[in-house]
Amino acid sequence: MESSVRNILEQEELKWVFVGGKGGVGKTTCSSVLSILLSRVRSSVLIISTDPAHNLSDAFQQRFTKSPTLVHGFSNLYAMEVDPNVEKDELPNVEGMDSFISELTNAIPGIDEAMSFAEMLKLVQTMDYSVIVFDTAPTGHTLRLLQFPSTLEKGLAKMMSLKNKFGGLINQVTRMFGVDEEFGEDAILGKLEGMKDVIEQVNRQFRNPDLTTFVCVCIPEFLSLYETERLVQELAKFEIDTHNIIINQVLFDEEDVESKLLKARMKMQKKYLDQFYMLYEDFNITLLPLLPEEVCGVEALKKFSAHVLTPYQPSTTPKGTVEELVKRISTLRLQLKEAETELERLRKGKDKI
Ligand SMILES: Nc1ncnc2c1ncn2[C@@H]1O[C@H](COP(=O)(O)OP(=O)(O)OP(=O)(O)O)[C@@H](O)[C@H]1O
Ligand SMILES: [Mg+2]
Repeated sequence: MESSVRNILEQEELKWVFVGGKGGVGKTTCSSVLSILLSRVRSSVLIISTDPAHNLSDAFQQRFTKSPTLVHGFSNLYAMEVDPNVEKDELPNVEGMDSFISELTNAIPGIDEAMSFAEMLKLVQTMDYSVIVFDTAPTGHTLRLLQFPSTLEKGLAKMMSLKNKFGGLINQVTRMFGVDEEFGEDAILGKLEGMKDVIEQVNRQFRNPDLTTFVCVCIPEFLSLYETERLVQELAKFEIDTHNIIINQVLFDEEDVESKLLKARMKMQKKYLDQFYMLYEDFNITLLPLLPEEVCGVEALKKFSAHVLTPYQPSTTPKGTVEELVKRISTLRLQLKEAETELERLRKGKDKI
């Protein structure tokens, strides 16, 4: 297995790339970087955030809306931020409509969200992007999104059976409530029916490893390892392909670190990195360094993308050798000298006072 995400760029047929993981581990950063890299090899790329707390705008330092907007500095990279929650004010404000929708939601939990997700997929499908990257919300929510196609299929079947059973009863009731023809039961059934094709198609596509893959982002810590395992198992249950893990915020022993805190953190990280490699030997594992600053704006993202493509090379001086000790001692000498100069400077200042 390779230690970069190059395999994703080389998978020419790939159409849907989901990026997910625990909160704050770097999903938005990694999905943004992936979309930038993909834009170099594909004709057109769309990155979608399904996180209600949209942060693509922060990452790219550009306002995005629910329709695709060209990202500054690119000719083929578009971004959009959608709210997976149904936008209540967009529903027609008709008496009885609320109760109808809430009844529907009670009968088929998640149907409202599923419908808006399906609407979005339908829209995106017609737009003909070469590849679509999803910056998803923290784990639980993502998996729910991926379940939506089957939620909808179930919902549809239920609606149809109800329709057959009760004939025009629901229709009569909605008419009694004064619901407009346009928003009546038939219209809603029609709308659901209309989505059926899209849903079936997407359902098939999501389960096809040539077309869809899920990239798990995590950090080398216990909770994240645990969450990743849960995620990988859930994905297997939904038959969604996953073969890439990005471990972000890794502390690399590049400079001779003398900080006790950093050393302790590195030791901890090493423990979990070893476990990741053991558990996921059939995955492409990409390690990304923890930077001293945030990854904000197109330039920073582009710079960061280099790490995603080229695997990290560990320090060339092996541990515990004479060479390494000499290097460490010279670093320490340098630091001691700096501290002495600083002390000298402070003392001189004080003497004057
Ligand atoms: N390797 C890194 N080094 C330094 N800063 C990083 C790194 N990766 C991400 N960040 C920063 O950490 C913050 C969180 O990253 P990001 O928004 O990508 O996480 P997220 O998983 O999308 O979070 P959320 O779950 O809130 O959506 C951002 O400010 C980002 O710039
Ligand atoms: Mg995010």
